[in-house]
Amino acid sequence: MFSRIQLIAFTLAAALCGVNAQIQLPADCARNYTVRLGDTCNAISAELDVSTFQLAYVNNATIDAACDNLALGEPLCLGITGQDCDVVRVVEDGDSCAVIVGDAGVELSVLLANNPNVNSECSNIYVGEVLCTAEGVIPYTN
Ligand SMILES: *[C@@H]1O[C@H](CO)[C@@H](O)[C@H](O)[C@H]1NC(C)=O
Ligand SMILES: *[C@@H]1O[C@H](CO)[C@@H](O)[C@H](O)[C@H]1NC(C)=O
Repeated sequence: MFSRIQLIAFTLAAALCGVNAQIQLPADCARNYTVRLGDTCNAISAELDVSTFQLAYVNNATIDAACDNLALGEPLCLGITGQDCDVVRVVEDGDSCAVIVGDAGVELSVLLANNPNVNSECSNIYVGEVLCTAEGVIPYTN
């Protein structure tokens, strides 16, 4: 007979496999990643040069708004081919959009277009957020 712990382990493994089998990465996924223990959305974004917006946008079918439902072993798409911003900046203490656009040499309008999660006053950026600082507008669609 299986012990209680073994049964729990089997159930968890089955649940994880079920999650992984169900999630299909988009066919036009340019970069992918598998969630590891302890990951957060912004940590993944900072490590792999993906904006906070893009990671949420591309994975909006699986990652919830608070990003508190990442599952160990879950595959994520980091960017769609042709709409993949990999030029980013992690917001630091004291940053403002003026500083960020100055450092990156990018127009404020382009920064705002590429980071639709940032409001027009740029008052809602926060330390640890990852912003796309590409010089061109990324054609996000879908
Ligand atoms: C994930 O990316 C790797 C290369 O980095 C590739 O070999 C693999 O096919 C990709 N997986 C999917 C499901 O697209
Ligand atoms: C994901 O984003 C697309 C495009 O904005 C939208 O149509 C879709 O309803 C979203 N899916 C979820 C689960 O929010």
